[in-house]
Amino acid sequence: MSLLVSEIPAPVLRARLYEALEIYVAAMHYPRGVEHSRAPMWAEHMLRDGWRAVAAFEIPDSGPRATTAMDDVATAIDDATAIPDGARLVGIAYGYHGAPAYWWDRQVRSAVRDTAGPPGTRLMSDYFELTEIHVAPSAQGKGIGAALLTRLLSGLTESRVLLSTPEVPEERNRAWQLYRRMGFEDVLRHFRFLGDRRDFAVLGRTLPLP
Ligand SMILES: CC(C)(COP(=O)(O)OP(=O)(O)OC[C@H]1O[C@@H](n2cnc3c(N)ncnc32)[C@H](O)[C@@H]1OP(=O)(O)O)[C@@H](O)C(=O)NCCC(=O)NCCS
Repeated sequence: MSLLVSEIPAPVLRARLYEALEIYVAAMHYPRGVEHSRAPMWAEHMLRDGWRAVAAFEIPDSGPRATTAMDDVATAIDDATAIPDGARLVGIAYGYHGAPAYWWDRQVRSAVRDTAGPPGTRLMSDYFELTEIHVAPSAQGKGIGAALLTRLLSGLTESRVLLSTPEVPEERNRAWQLYRRMGFEDVLRHFRFLGDRRDFAVLGRTLPLP
């Protein structure tokens, strides 16, 4: 099995939206059916400024283009025909340029202002919001998450990336391990988004990556 990690344009994600949402639902342990409510949200996100997505595909070694695809990981898939035959989507990550027009931004900006005062919101003046990153449970722990994140953040023009992730005791899950390993630092801890009873952390790091 080979792995292809590539930026994908919106039409490619649109074509494989339910495959990507199945990964999301399985990775987050959400009940089946959640994908139907998320599909329109993900579709709307694709229209936002600075939207960028990266996908990971497992390619059977017998696939006719497997070797070429693996050797050519720097090449973006620019349409669905560029996806090698038999490729299975195993990971997806995307985000967009954060802006006060968006719900997530307004929630976070107001909490940052409350905790750090108006100067604290400077870190939200030019940022990429990492909205989703998920790897199929059967493919986790093999470096795919790290590859997705590195690819997604490489070449961004924003000066910072911000994300939110559920709090877990002692930061003991793969998402936290990955974010800490990639240099993400605390922006907010034990933060509650309106309408969600879970505690979240907002983490961030400057860009570009080293
Ligand atoms: C978070 C998530 C995207 C990370 O993806 P991943 O592919 O599992 O992450 P990685 O493999 O890059 O890193 C995870 C582990 O694999 C290890 N690893 C990294 N590269 C590796 C490699 N080449 N070979 C073997 N193991 C490797 C890492 O050390 C890490 O182990 P650790 O967790 O004990 O530190 C994925 O686990 C996931 O979808 N989780 C559930 C959904 C979720 O939490 N999403 C984020 C919500 S904010």
